[in-house]
Amino acid sequence: MTIRILVTGGAGFIGSHYVRTLLGPAGPADVAVTVLDKLTYAGNPVNLDEVRDHPGFAFVQGDICDAVLVDGLLAEHDQVVHFAAESHVDRSILGAGEFVRTNVLGTQTLLEAALRHGGSKSFVHISTDEVYGSIDFGSWPETDPLRPNSPYAASKAAGDLIALAHHRTHGLDVRVTRCSNNYGHHHFPEKVIPLFITNLLDGRKVPLYGDGGNVRDWLHIDDHVQGIELVRTRGRAGEVYNIGGGTELTNKELTALLLEACGAEWDSSVEYVTDRKGHDRRYSVDCAKIRDELGYEPRKDFATGLAETVTWYRENRAWWEPLRSARHSSAVSPPFERRTGAP
Ligand code: NAD
Ligand code: TYD
Repeated sequence: MTIRILVTGGAGFIGSHYVRTLLGPAGPADVAVTVLDKLTYAGNPVNLDEVRDHPGFAFVQGDICDAVLVDGLLAEHDQVVHFAAESHVDRSILGAGEFVRTNVLGTQTLLEAALRHGGSKSFVHISTDEVYGSIDFGSWPETDPLRPNSPYAASKAAGDLIALAHHRTHGLDVRVTRCSNNYGHHHFPEKVIPLFITNLLDGRKVPLYGDGGNVRDWLHIDDHVQGIELVRTRGRAGEVYNIGGGTELTNKELTALLLEACGAEWDSSVEYVTDRKGHDRRYSVDCAKIRDELGYEPRKDFATGLAETVTWYRENRAWWEPLRSARHSSAVSPPFERRTGAP
């Protein structure tokens, strides 16, 4: 029997990779996918070109906050994999309204519709490691309390908790994943890796926030999709699963690797800029649970994944150039001032 999966935010960076993988040659044979996406600045229909003609694919342009639309879609689907979100921390610092609307109210709208149509529907909620806050040493297990700092992280934490509450209160089959920083192709050029690559390919400088000592764990999108599929197919209802990539780097270390891959020099290409407000120092998830329970292991070696990502941006200017010019002309630009020299 075919499983009908509703993928919200499936025109974005991670969601589109998930859909391309599910409907690609190595994907499961028993699924049909409907993407529900509002196509905000971050959603790009081109990301779904590869699967557009697949007989199991459908696309609906719409808002996860639209209760009538969502109710109709939930009636027709067996599972939800919920990616749709406002996802950029810097934008949330400039204004949190859309973050609360989509990440909290949109999530609640989907959950209530799932509940109304009940049965054996399962709901995989894609959360983030940023809900835990910032950690100087060690790594967070899933049992750690949530202490989000940015408006983005706070809105994701609210969505994550309202999802779990629907399991505890109503018995809905909710599974939550909390992943680290994703990287790969089709990543909107406002996040650090695609922003720095596209700047360097254009001979521009890259803006490094603060002292460049903030640490992120990098997870390739192939590994993230592997983790989500393990949770969707074999995870337990009401459980949270951390998904990490196993490569922790300071932003300085990451920048040096990107400069090398793009053939640029530090002194002429890096501009230290004023730090992001409330900038989380380090994220680090403990992935023992998903490894021991579901057999998850990140497979993509970081050097290979980064080289492939740089090559993709080199070869796909037609994808990112229009997005970059939109970014530069938008009212949303990073809240930094230029500084010269190292901090
Ligand atoms: P993205 O910004 O690239 O894509 C988000 C998608 O959601 C876009 O296609 C957008 O059009 C759609 N969307 C936004 N608001 C909507 C609404 N109201 N209704 C319907 N669609 C809407 O994000 P991403 O990087 O692909 O992230 C996907 C999910 O993974 C998000 O929930 C994010 O919080 C989470 N996450 C991302 C990362 C990362 O490193 N990118 C890390 C941890 C968690
Ligand atoms: P980002 O890609 O925005 O992801 P997140 O804030 O969700 O981790 O940023 C990753 C790291 O890179 C973060 O420590 C902030 C830093 N950064 C810069 O130094 N310069 C930039 O222009 C951006 C966008 C991020």
